[in-house]
Amino acid sequence: MRIAAVCGSLRSQSLNAAVLRAAVRLAPAGVTITEAPSFRELPLFDADVAGSGPLPAALEPIRDCFEAADGVLICSPEYAHGFPGGLKNLLDWQVGTGELTGKPAAVITVSTSLTAGRWAHAGLTEVLTTMGVDVVPEAGLTVGAARAKVDPATGRLAPDLVADLRRAIAALATRSSHAGPGPLLRADLA
Ligand SMILES: Cc1cc2nc3c(=O)[nH]c(=O)nc-3n(C[C@H](O)[C@H](O)[C@H](O)COP(=O)(O)O)c2cc1C
Repeated sequence: MRIAAVCGSLRSQSLNAAVLRAAVRLAPAGVTITEAPSFRELPLFDADVAGSGPLPAALEPIRDCFEAADGVLICSPEYAHGFPGGLKNLLDWQVGTGELTGKPAAVITVSTSLTAGRWAHAGLTEVLTTMGVDVVPEAGLTVGAARAKVDPATGRLAPDLVADLRRAIAALATRSSHAGPGPLLRADLA
């Protein structure tokens, strides 16, 4: 079972990246979590380019990673009650290419605030669901006051967060193992 992991933050000392890398280490036997290539170099989404190509070179390694994955885990901050524009830009490119369609997703928001990125969590859930991605509620987490729970220098997480993350990964892996063909394919077969 292969899970692609996407971090919504580009910060070098990102708390979300630290949680994502902990998930890579905590993956149980039989599950491989791989950090997807960065979306940093992706140009802004342009529907003309998406429609007639050629698609941006920076999109290719990300598409390959998503194509090879059985599911996706997203760790994202919240900016001004939304999820980051860079991540939305990646998802806009994905609308046309569709490698994540029908695949299960874990949505995790990590925030320094007590509100734990709940608006970004809701926004990501809405966007992914609209794209036909299967957001798994039991695999979701909102982590607040994260400076006390995540050490980006050492990668260490508080024990409670480790337990929550293990549960989230297990729920995502369970759903990924039962995932059928995506909605588009199912419609084709009907
Ligand atoms: C531009 C900006 C806007 C932010 N807006 C919010 C917000 O709306 N809600 C929130 O919980 N945290 C907000 N934060 C704080 C982030 O939760 C915090 O910076 C977090 O560490 C970012 O994630 P990262 O460490 O993975 O980069 C904001 C931070 C920045 C830089």
